Amino acid sequence: MNALDILLWVAAPYVALTAFVLGHIWRYRYDKFGWTTRSSQMYESRLLRVGSPLFHFGILVVILGHVGGLVIPKSWTEAVGVGEEVYHLVAVVLGTVAGVCTLAGLAILVYRRRTVGPVFTATTRNDKLMYVLLAATIVLGLAATVVANVVGGGYDYRATVSPWFRSIFLLRPDPEPMAGAPILFRLHALSALLLFAVWPFTRLVHMLTAPVGYLTRPYVIYRSRDERPAGEPPRAWR
Ligand code: HEM
Repeated sequence: MNALDILLWVAAPYVALTAFVLGHIWRYRYDKFGWTTRSSQMYESRLLRVGSPLFHFGILVVILGHVGGLVIPKSWTEAVGVGEEVYHLVAVVLGTVAGVCTLAGLAILVYRRRTVGPVFTATTRNDKLMYVLLAATIVLGLAATVVANVVGGGYDYRATVSPWFRSIFLLRPDPEPMAGAPILFRLHALSALLLFAVWPFTRLVHMLTAPVGYLTRPYVIYRSRDERPAGEPPRAWR
């Protein structure tokens, strides 16, 4: 293992995570009212109606897949009777379908952002960088899956990438397993680290404040302005 491996797989993850955490705190303190998706729905909704759910449901499944593959150790899934073959099949099928949906959704959203004038004007410089990193991360993740596990002979990333990933959060960083992983997996993780570092300075901050309360909040009642003779009580009171 050389100095570059330590830089990439020990120093870079902690720099990215520090930027992620402190960046969010900074953004909340100094740009509370800019903490938003910068919604552009009022400019265009036809493409948004297709692209947005495709991307968001896709990425939700991708995230759940990453929790299952990176956070949960292989020994745990095996202890509950999920063998390598079953895990592998589910991960590859579900992961590929979810990855393709996410990428297709993102392609529609980026096309819309570039071609609809007011939406493009409302795109910040940081957001443009974020879209490049987001697309690169998704393409590289999908490429790693397809090259290694769909058309290739199969690669058990739960023996290399996953222990490295967990070692970072357990504060016992171990670059060794990641240093030997196939190049697409390494590029995918690096691109993800860059994405995490710029995350707080982009519209992605909305992920931490998803309006879950919308599901249970009372209705907002809209009333039309009815025309009635002066002095007559509103309709609802009659
Ligand atoms: C350091 C953080 C990350 C690591 C270590 C990592 C690791 C991996 C690994 C090992 C795979 C292969 C899964 C398989 O073959 O079944 C994968 C696939 C994938 N990753 Fe990541 N990933 C990270 C972050 C991200 C992020 C932030 C995104 C999206 C923004 C992402 C999107 C994808 C996609 C779309 C795939 C294709 C397969 C699927 O849909 O799960 N990854 N990643």
